[in-house]
Amino acid sequence: MKSLDQLLTESPARIDAAPDLEALASLESELVGKKSIIASTRRGLGQLPQEERPVVGARLHEVQGRLQKLLESRRTVLERLAEDRLLEQDRVDVTLEGIKPPIGMHHVLTQTVDEIVDIFTGLGYKVASGPEVELAWYNFDALNTPPTHPSRLESDTLYVDYGEPSDEMLLRTHTSPMQARYMEQNEPPVYIVVPGRTFRADALDPTHSPVFYQIEGLAVDENITFGDLKGTLAHFAREFFGADQKIRLLPHFFPFTEPSAEMHVSCFACDGSGCRVCSGSGWIELMGCGMVDPNVFDAVGYDHEKLSGFAFGMGAERLAMVRHGINHIKHFYENDVRVLRQFT
Ligand code: PHE
Repeated sequence: MKSLDQLLTESPARIDAAPDLEALASLESELVGKKSIIASTRRGLGQLPQEERPVVGARLHEVQGRLQKLLESRRTVLERLAEDRLLEQDRVDVTLEGIKPPIGMHHVLTQTVDEIVDIFTGLGYKVASGPEVELAWYNFDALNTPPTHPSRLESDTLYVDYGEPSDEMLLRTHTSPMQARYMEQNEPPVYIVVPGRTFRADALDPTHSPVFYQIEGLAVDENITFGDLKGTLAHFAREFFGADQKIRLLPHFFPFTEPSAEMHVSCFACDGSGCRVCSGSGWIELMGCGMVDPNVFDAVGYDHEKLSGFAFGMGAERLAMVRHGINHIKHFYENDVRVLRQFT
């Protein structure tokens, strides 16, 4: 009985001090296992006098019960600690920045063309496209450009196939042939923009390339005036270069528009006082434009008495160069990623 009392006074502190589950297990076998005082006392019960057996037996049962309860509650605590430690070890810091995979982007020319096209689709224009290898008829004749016109010479135009003047096949020198193709296939009114690749017999220099991109515009309806042309281009200039940009239209000549004009925008870099971007003039030439010549309407079967319209054509490289301060057209075609990455 005495050793059972002692067991009961000493054990709680030892159980509480067990540092981990392993230590607790060996303490458990020492306190209530096969070789414990409790077990040996139980085995010796039979040797006790008859009247003492129930007293000792009851005490034995009580002590064992108390010890097992203490062991159990310590086990719960230690198990929770072990679990916490595991969770801490496996913790993932989700605030760490991951490795970003490289993401592609559109070429600066594609970005420029898309942006220009978006400005006009915002006004209700449709987008059309046509062949790069073109009949001389659409590139020249339908556009009021006679067989003797100097731009038809091989010094300007790249021919693919020769024949009668209008049947000749060439690489289109501008996107204007789509004016004729579109009107031939569609009833008025017409509001289209035509982005596309164009070709000329030019050697590469800072501002010329044998291959380049244009964006054509064509609006045909009843009562379209030169004022509509000016308002539309002024809107475009403000959207593309900035809200304060002004435009001016200078007399020019194109076979397929009459009157024709060259459109200038006030320099966005110096606001007109003159700088490197505008070569000191305060103005930047952006595109050719004009009122559709009645001869073009006749060539495509439109009634030039009832209809009027305007057209314009701009070079995508030129607009991108002016906008970004790019000083040589070759940068668009060399695909040097050190250049292209600057236009994300
Ligand atoms: N096609 C002309 C060029 O390439 C530009 C232009 C288009 C002019 C439409 C007037 C009207 O220079």
